[in-house]
Amino acid sequence: MWLYKHLRHKSCHFTKHMAVVSSRLLFLLFAVLIPIQASALLPYLFPPTCNNNSGNYTSNSTYKTNLNQVLSSLYSNTTIGYGFYYSSYGQNPDKVYAIGLCRGDVNPDDCRGCLKNSSTLLPQDCPNQKEAIGRCDQCMLRYSNSSIFGIMDTSFHVLVCDMQNVSANYLAQFNDDVNILLNHLTSEAAAGGSLREYAAGSAITTDFKKIYALLQCTPDLSEQNCINCLLSAIAAVPNYCAGKVGRIVVLTSCSIR
Ligand SMILES: *[C@@H]1O[C@H](CO)[C@@H](O)[C@H](O)[C@H]1NC(C)=O
Ligand SMILES: *[C@@H]1O[C@H](CO)[C@@H](O)[C@H](O)[C@H]1NC(C)=O
Ligand SMILES: *[C@@H]1O[C@H](CO)[C@@H](O)[C@H](O)[C@H]1NC(C)=O
Ligand SMILES: *[C@@H]1O[C@H](CO)[C@@H](O)[C@H](O)[C@H]1NC(C)=O
Ligand SMILES: *[C@@H]1O[C@H](CO)[C@@H](O)[C@H](O)[C@H]1NC(C)=O
Ligand SMILES: *[C@@H]1O[C@H](CO)[C@@H](O)[C@H](O)[C@H]1NC(C)=O
Ligand SMILES: *[C@@H]1O[C@H](CO)[C@@H](O)[C@H](O)[C@H]1NC(C)=O
Repeated sequence: MWLYKHLRHKSCHFTKHMAVVSSRLLFLLFAVLIPIQASALLPYLFPPTCNNNSGNYTSNSTYKTNLNQVLSSLYSNTTIGYGFYYSSYGQNPDKVYAIGLCRGDVNPDDCRGCLKNSSTLLPQDCPNQKEAIGRCDQCMLRYSNSSIFGIMDTSFHVLVCDMQNVSANYLAQFNDDVNILLNHLTSEAAAGGSLREYAAGSAITTDFKKIYALLQCTPDLSEQNCINCLLSAIAAVPNYCAGKVGRIVVLTSCSIR
């Protein structure tokens, strides 16, 4: 059972038993979240982040035209099979940089479909801001008027916990086993190379229960920056998540589940 807050209905498919809250709502977590058995196929977009400090554009501007160009060059590039898209378009001061990243287990067609949907939704949700990030379950789309390639950004976007408790008898062992698994997968993801920094795996913990984890960096990060980013994500365990069976942490440059 995941804590789930339905913030909006959008056309990006949300297929897993999961939940999400906006970082802006985090302080309200106890007050606003409703526990439900999430099982239906929920169309869902993680709440976008519109950066109000990096300048605004108008709908008939050169920036808008360049933005449309760069986004379509991402989702229409059929030669990329590894789920990481990066491009820029235009001349300063209207040059636009964009990154698209799909979850490591998403196939190229679904990946492009997710990026295409996000390319429509994100500029609608952030209609003036030159810089924005949107996330669906399967992909992340990000654009800016400054170069964002290769720069680690650990600003915080989403943190969700599965509110089911680990049995107190097993908690210490469970935490140890989770940390061992996450550390192991951190090294593996970071060593993945410049096209894909992704690792997923599982381990058996006490009582023969299985734990699963998925870790990912945008692969433009160096190995060391990927490690640093993932360590920040792993360290983000607020009190209300302690002792719970699941956790999702999404930062700008990396994420863990
Ligand atoms: C940006 O401004 C909009 C409209 O004023 C606001 O809704 C949004 O929360 C702001 N974004 C951030 C990241 O503060
Ligand atoms: C992005 O736009 C903002 C506001 O227009 C401007 O202050 C900033 O210098 C721009 N960044 C780059 C790299 O051009
Ligand atoms: C850009 O627009 C947002 C909301 O539309 C506003 O909150 C913000 O102050 C504006 N930023 C600038 C630099 O004009
Ligand atoms: C955009 O449209 C507005 C009003 O429709 C107009 O005042 C402005 O000059 C236009 N800007 C550009 C860059 O064409
Ligand atoms: C697709 O992306 C690759 C790698 O970034 C790039 O080399 C290629 O030119 C792109 N193809 C098109 C049609 O944009
Ligand atoms: C994109 O949106 C359409 C509906 O607008 C939906 O049918 C489709 O499944 C979405 N694709 C992805 C990958 O989310
Ligand atoms: C988990 O444990 C806490 C503290 O013991 C308790 O308040 C809460 O109701 C439990 N949650 C569930 C879903 O059992």
